[in-house]
Amino acid sequence: MIFSSIIVPLLALAARGVQADPSMAELEGTWSSKSNTVFTGSGFYDPVDELLIEPDLPGISYSFTSDGFWEAALYRVTSNPQNHSCPSAVLIYQHGSYELLSNGSLVLTPIAVDGRQLLSEPCTDDGSSVYSRYVQATFFKTYEVYVDGYNGRWTLQIYQFDGSKMQPLYLAYKPPNMLPTTALNPTDSASETKTSLKKRARRSLENQYRTNAVKTTAGKNYDFYWWVAVSFVGIGSASFFMI
Ligand SMILES: *[C@@H]1O[C@H](CO)[C@@H](O)[C@H](O)[C@H]1NC(C)=O
Ligand SMILES: *[C@@H]1O[C@H](CO)[C@@H](O)[C@H](O)[C@H]1NC(C)=O
Repeated sequence: MIFSSIIVPLLALAARGVQADPSMAELEGTWSSKSNTVFTGSGFYDPVDELLIEPDLPGISYSFTSDGFWEAALYRVTSNPQNHSCPSAVLIYQHGSYELLSNGSLVLTPIAVDGRQLLSEPCTDDGSSVYSRYVQATFFKTYEVYVDGYNGRWTLQIYQFDGSKMQPLYLAYKPPNMLPTTALNPTDSASETKTSLKKRARRSLENQYRTNAVKTTAGKNYDFYWWVAVSFVGIGSASFFMI
């Protein structure tokens, strides 16, 4: 026991030492913020049915492959100081390819047709969340990968474009848990309208309800489908529990 508590800080030092020579191998994996509830992959976004699935608690997750692909999942709840019953909530999915510059900066380029956002502002949107495309190229000034001296977990500390620290991310899966890294919507034209996306979202919601009826007897599955449906009808109402 004594040894392990000594070895961890040493490992942490060694890992920090690696920083001088950034490598895509050390980025490889699925990283998740402290809540440990948000993970990239099919549990967050179902591209076939156009479903963003609300995790239990807010958080963020980034995945990287060692050959230059990334995926991000974000679930953020923002309280409303005017009315504590009205927090807004947003779910964002993006993926694409990345480049690790020789000075340690990371450039994340999204696949534009694939990004999705579900925004819920329960007190102003009449209970219908807004489902739309989302495209945001991302630049991280630098990052560190090290073993946290307190909890012994592999940690990814990202410094955002302006050098400010993102909340630390902890290694959850290696190899990473990701959707396919190629375009998920290859037939989509970039000009696809919000309305057609919405129609698809609605259709998939209807499908879920149909599935519901069938799955009821299966007991546990019912909850899952209900939950997915809730994330479309009013993710805000579920997020009341967050604050
Ligand atoms: C690395 O180089 C890029 C492009 O020249 C620059 O924008 C970025 O700020 C540099 N990063 C650091 C950590 O200096
Ligand atoms: C806060 O929002 C809820 C839900 O819309 C509403 O019923 C309530 O009256 C609001 N409270 C205040 C102080 O505005």
